[in-house]
Amino acid sequence: MSAAHCFSSVSTSRWRVSLGRQNLEGSNPNEESSTVAEIVLHPAYDSVTSNNDIALLRLSSPVQFTDYIRPVCLAAGDSVFNSGTDSWVTGWGAVQEGEPLPFPETLQEVEVPVLGNRQCNCLNGVGTITDNMICAGLLAGGKDSCQGDSGGPMVNQQGSVWVQSGIVSFGYGCARPNLPGVYARVSNYQSWINSHIKSDKPGFVQFSSSGLDADNSYTCPGLPPPPVTAPGSIESAKSSVCGKASMNSHAAGDRGLVPGGIWPWMVSLYKNGVYTCGGTLISKNFVLTSAQCFSTSNPDEREWRVLLGPRLVNGTEEFVMTRGVKRIKLSGFMSSNIALLKLTKRASTGHFIQPVCMDISKARSFPVGTRCWVAGRDMGSRSGETHKADSGLRGIETQVASCGTGSDPDNICTYAMNLQKGDQGGPLFCKSDSSWFQVAVVSTSGNKSVRSDLQVFAKASRFSSFLKETVDDMPSPAAAATGNAAGFSISLLLCLAVPIISLFLVSGC
Ligand code: ARG
Repeated sequence: MSAAHCFSSVSTSRWRVSLGRQNLEGSNPNEESSTVAEIVLHPAYDSVTSNNDIALLRLSSPVQFTDYIRPVCLAAGDSVFNSGTDSWVTGWGAVQEGEPLPFPETLQEVEVPVLGNRQCNCLNGVGTITDNMICAGLLAGGKDSCQGDSGGPMVNQQGSVWVQSGIVSFGYGCARPNLPGVYARVSNYQSWINSHIKSDKPGFVQFSSSGLDADNSYTCPGLPPPPVTAPGSIESAKSSVCGKASMNSHAAGDRGLVPGGIWPWMVSLYKNGVYTCGGTLISKNFVLTSAQCFSTSNPDEREWRVLLGPRLVNGTEEFVMTRGVKRIKLSGFMSSNIALLKLTKRASTGHFIQPVCMDISKARSFPVGTRCWVAGRDMGSRSGETHKADSGLRGIETQVASCGTGSDPDNICTYAMNLQKGDQGGPLFCKSDSSWFQVAVVSTSGNKSVRSDLQVFAKASRFSSFLKETVDDMPSPAAAATGNAAGFSISLLLCLAVPIISLFLVSGC
């Protein structure tokens, strides 16, 4: 990936890509070089405004990853980079305006904070910074990318992965006060990038910022007034996404922000104040659970309360929200049936409370080996497989296994696990692309297997018409997602894009 403005010529024979390189002169023991099979400039690249300054180069053959050559992760479409987010830019460009990098031209790095688009527009001249751009730099100046860095990466660290947020694009001079550098905003190009990569797609990672973005309230003459930030207004106007466990260490790969991680769709159901079942948030208004949780086919809504959100975050009780139940609908009353609870007031969603995705159109497949979890209430077992996600919750990781009966559209099998009463009503959820989908509802009396090494679950998609006609606000998974990253991380000789050394994690980037 590089910048479109680097390619006045898209004749591939004129370009070579060099990888694993540290110095532009002298020896580079870890260098590989590749010819280019195709150069794709963004079709909407505008050389006057620099809007959509992004290009993809297809290497003639796949590169071998080494300790020195690795793909970076890319910021997924729903990433958020608040003003102040710590970023790093690397390149072999000038070290000051008009001062080229001295011999042996060793790769340089600089740390700069993100500067919000509103403020960046005010500083650079309202209208110069589009939504397809992201800025970084110090108001005092002194640190910036410069001529020769174009096409190279701006990256941000999240947990133990490095996520590329920007591509060096332009700036007025370099490192001048009040003139931050401008970068192409990688997260806006997830689908364009994916559309040009058939196999070995890059790893897209949702980058999140905590707290409010100060840039939202930045104003200057000529800039439209800041969006109204009445509590929940922006949030609820946004169509909600599902299945992103952004605060979750399991999903982020390694050590996440919250020890042990959090599944934001888990809810607890209380009947007359007594914990009775687990469940999941599947939209802002609906909770899914097992029909087994109800002793009659006509339960009394007033007896039930729903608790959403993790109880404990870093030891303090936070993000808990309770709701009453307006309506309970059962798909039927036999063992594997499901139940939908409509909340009295819709859930306000965020990092800690978020619906899981449902595959109601049955468009997804969850092949053998797919990562899945069962999560439920920890009723005090001492089982070794238990993983405490937060107080009172446990999660068991498993994988899709073959049911051994040929393809069975109604059931899904996983490796056997020790399900307990507290798991009743909770989900079996599996990862597809980069979103988590609830595949089944755990009903402890229903899911018996003849084979002791397997756990059979009745797929929730059996009830897809029941789900469709009841849930009128079903969220959709975030735009197409993670592949496994290969082949496309490159550094050009003139326009340089360096694969940042990153640890191999979920997506391999
Ligand atoms: N357009 C320049 C290049 O082709 C990059 C300039 C970046 N400038 C800045 N002030 N950050 O290399």
